[in-house]
Amino acid sequence: MSAPAETNPLLEGLRIRRRPDPCILVIFGASGDLTAKKLIPALYALSVRRLLPDRFAIIGAARTDEGDDDFKARMKQAVKDHARDPYDEEAWQRLAVGMKYVTLEFADGKAEDGLRDTLASLDAEHGTQGNRVYYFAVPPSAIGTLVGEIAERRATEGWIRLIIEKPFGHDLASARALNAQIQEHYTEAEVFRIDHYLGKETVQNMLALRFANGIFEPIWNRQFIDHVQITVAESIGIEGRAGYYEQAGAIRDIFQNHLLQLVAITAMEPPIDFYADSVRNEKVKVLKSIHTPGPRHVVRGQYGPGFVEGLEVQGYREEEGVAQGSTTETFVAAKLFVDNWRWADTPFYVRMGKRLARRETTIAIQFKRAPHPPFEEGAAEGLRPNVLLIHVQPNEGISLAIGAKVPGQGMTIRTVHMDFLYGGAFREGLPDAYERLILDAMLGDATLFTRSDEIEEQWALVDAIVGFWQRDRPAFPNYAAGTWGPVGSDELVHRDGRSWRRH
Ligand code: BG6
Repeated sequence: MSAPAETNPLLEGLRIRRRPDPCILVIFGASGDLTAKKLIPALYALSVRRLLPDRFAIIGAARTDEGDDDFKARMKQAVKDHARDPYDEEAWQRLAVGMKYVTLEFADGKAEDGLRDTLASLDAEHGTQGNRVYYFAVPPSAIGTLVGEIAERRATEGWIRLIIEKPFGHDLASARALNAQIQEHYTEAEVFRIDHYLGKETVQNMLALRFANGIFEPIWNRQFIDHVQITVAESIGIEGRAGYYEQAGAIRDIFQNHLLQLVAITAMEPPIDFYADSVRNEKVKVLKSIHTPGPRHVVRGQYGPGFVEGLEVQGYREEEGVAQGSTTETFVAAKLFVDNWRWADTPFYVRMGKRLARRETTIAIQFKRAPHPPFEEGAAEGLRPNVLLIHVQPNEGISLAIGAKVPGQGMTIRTVHMDFLYGGAFREGLPDAYERLILDAMLGDATLFTRSDEIEEQWALVDAIVGFWQRDRPAFPNYAAGTWGPVGSDELVHRDGRSWRRH
């Protein structure tokens, strides 16, 4: 692992990138799961590949009382448990050498003293030049206060980037208020609202697929596409996050952010270049033009007990910390329309949920049938329409369903698949989304982050849907864990003479 970057085989296939400037990364909310399971393992992967700045330090900050050594020991264990690379002492030491922990009371207005001193001493010891990346892995209510506090030292610092985790607000009004609080002190170019789905290779590859190939764009529209199906299915439950999930539900946890970003990337017009604003201008146009035709076209669900991948699991209401009669949804399916010339009248059926039969995120583009099959009756009976299927995860890849002749006498047509699998085509394993995003933020590249107007458009749609739900009380639970959601989800597509893609 100690080979210089140029000869390190792990770097093969990665885009050649410049190293970020020296800086300190401060993680607010460092005692939480995200830091141990995602952020530190991602930073470790960057350290292994020597992609971090030469002069770099990390400060973990949270309410929990913890010393530097304990924090480091916990993070080292987190790397061993969650990193994608085998443990390498040298790569760990490069990361740990400037690692500190500061205990903070987020809302007391004097969080600053300990942090300010630690920042100053790290700048002096590691030559980090006053540059800062502040990572907010804290609830939205704490962000405003913290942003105000760190802004007080602004004049003494170098460049600043604020990385802000979801949830970004709870609805449109709170998201707007949070945007305003942040914009009081910082410009949009300094703010990196994270949606980790945009850091996934397969999601970025959707842009490559569409805009690096001449054959898809001409047919990527209402003339050739019958409809689009997007599925974000998880087999896991809420994993001890009842406090958060009871407030969020599937609509705020996945639909508002990851799901709508997948719709935007699928439906957007080609950007004029790949700079942050060009890409985000196109996405925001899609988000502005999405509507759902009404309450009948949005289905919500909550899982009851059942079997997932052979294991018996409890229902949502039995999960620790969930209210007995909770009406929080763990599943949403909806029919959406994108009101523009490219997509008018082309449904986007979307669904997402916890405790479904399997983990699977896919974007399926279903094309219209051939206008006139010239074959004998029955020859193409089992033939399904062409589908371009993007496997976002797992089994990352792309598959195109086409009709082919069954070998032998006569003419019988059947559906076959042309597959591209990442694992087969590229040697390098897929990086975790957070590796890409943390590095991009350090480099000041906001292309894969959500701009303030995007987030507000996303909330506007969610507010409209949540508005429908205020009028009735759902009969929950309405799907068994380990299935594909409530019957209403099937009805939503059957009504239009279509069905969810077969699994
Ligand atoms: C998070 C949600 O944003 O995304 C979780 O809060 C969800 O509830 C997770 O499990 C899914 O991410 P991934 O990368 O595993 O698809």
